[in-house]
Amino acid sequence: MTSSSPTPVKPAQPSTLITGGLVITASDELHADLLIENGRVAGLAAPGTAAAEAFSADRVLDATGKYVIPGGVDGHTHMDFPFGGTFSSDDFETGTRAAAWGGTTTIVDFAVQTRGRALREGLDTWHAKADGRCSVDYGFHMILSDVNESSLKEMDGLVEEGVTSFKMFMAYPGVFYSDDGQILRAMQRTAANGGLTMMHAENGIAIDVLVEQALAAGRTDPRHHGEVRKALLEAEATHRAIQLARVAGSPLYVVHVSAREAVEQLAAARGMDLPVFGETCPQYLYLSTDNLAEPDFGGAKYVCSTPLRPAEHQAALWRALRTDDLQVVSTDHCPFCFTGQKDLGRGDFSKIPNGMPGVEHRMDLLHQAVVDGHLTRRRWIELACATPARMFGLYPKKGTLAPGADADVVVYDPHAEQTLSAATHHMNVDYSAYEGKRLTGRVETVLSRGEAVIDRRTYTGRAGHGQYVPRGICQFLN
Ligand code: URP
Ligand code: ZN
Ligand code: ZN
Repeated sequence: MTSSSPTPVKPAQPSTLITGGLVITASDELHADLLIENGRVAGLAAPGTAAAEAFSADRVLDATGKYVIPGGVDGHTHMDFPFGGTFSSDDFETGTRAAAWGGTTTIVDFAVQTRGRALREGLDTWHAKADGRCSVDYGFHMILSDVNESSLKEMDGLVEEGVTSFKMFMAYPGVFYSDDGQILRAMQRTAANGGLTMMHAENGIAIDVLVEQALAAGRTDPRHHGEVRKALLEAEATHRAIQLARVAGSPLYVVHVSAREAVEQLAAARGMDLPVFGETCPQYLYLSTDNLAEPDFGGAKYVCSTPLRPAEHQAALWRALRTDDLQVVSTDHCPFCFTGQKDLGRGDFSKIPNGMPGVEHRMDLLHQAVVDGHLTRRRWIELACATPARMFGLYPKKGTLAPGADADVVVYDPHAEQTLSAATHHMNVDYSAYEGKRLTGRVETVLSRGEAVIDRRTYTGRAGHGQYVPRGICQFLN
């Protein structure tokens, strides 16, 4: 006699009905009840209609007076990232928990190829860092630090398995830097395999000359980080990246754009109908070289690359976000503690680890832009949720609220007041780049695939809930 054990049946997830809220997506704003079944959006219906009356669920969330929006998609984070002899202070556990607190339910982080090693080895390392530790879903881009015959070949396989974007650096010679020939080769590869080239566009060779001259002249304070990394050298590299992409016939996504002159290059390319895209980050919209000049080495908190710019660049960035010359706002979350990490660069700004915290505040800072009149509500959702999902091959699973989409949902209170501070944030970093900043609007409840990870301002998630999400190719190229 043989016996076979019964196949375990996965218990159905309790269904949820979110009632009374204003549902906002990139395309619509409508008062609707939202039904969630088995981790997905099952339906939307106007309250009081027969369709809404027919909705029934195990639990009801009252969102009267609140917004109901898709979970944020942050397409640019660096958890547990090696830089300048140290590692970013958020790992996948602390960083994705902070993301959840801030209403971001998907991150796309950067796996790193070590020089002389295979892409596969770097990707495996990043899977091991993230596996079982995340509170929200995650995917990977791949940083190419060593473009050669074998890494070029490996790119095709990565695209097939869902790592569909590759970042290269025109900056940081001797570390992540690729020369123009390497960039052209990698772009030719993405032109053929459907991948997206992401570019850190700063002329690192020229910048290193200016760094050397500044240090030799005794200009060692953090503010000189901003002075040597000139806007023109961002614009030059952006221009060069665009021309190389044209020659290769490949799409291009320029990361962390901060200079008005770089935006002009992107706008010109888009005016020629080229598949060229750009992101900026909240730090470039709200902070400036004034922060880099804060006394007592305080400017080190704001050292990142591309650098913060004089405040007059901000108007060009806001305008580009409205006109679609920039399409995405990501955080480039790459935190280093002030004590013990940023202070590696006391007396030499070039030794300050580059990067800033931000994964927790992107949705709120962009909502503040709605309050301040820079953006409409739908554009807020487009920049923070829908377009990054499309850009990185995740839509409509992520980035919207439509039947069949993952139920990554944020109930957002647009009237709540909050003050940002290191004393209350959840990122693993000992300072806030926005200490004391007052904002209107706050995340109240966050569902990730239908499960509450933040429930009325209490963390109810768990490390390991977040799943790896293989990605399709950029959906602006189809
Ligand atoms: O300063 C930054 N942006 N650090 C993270 C690495 C990068 O270039 O994105
Ligand atoms: Zn970069
Ligand atoms: Zn980055």
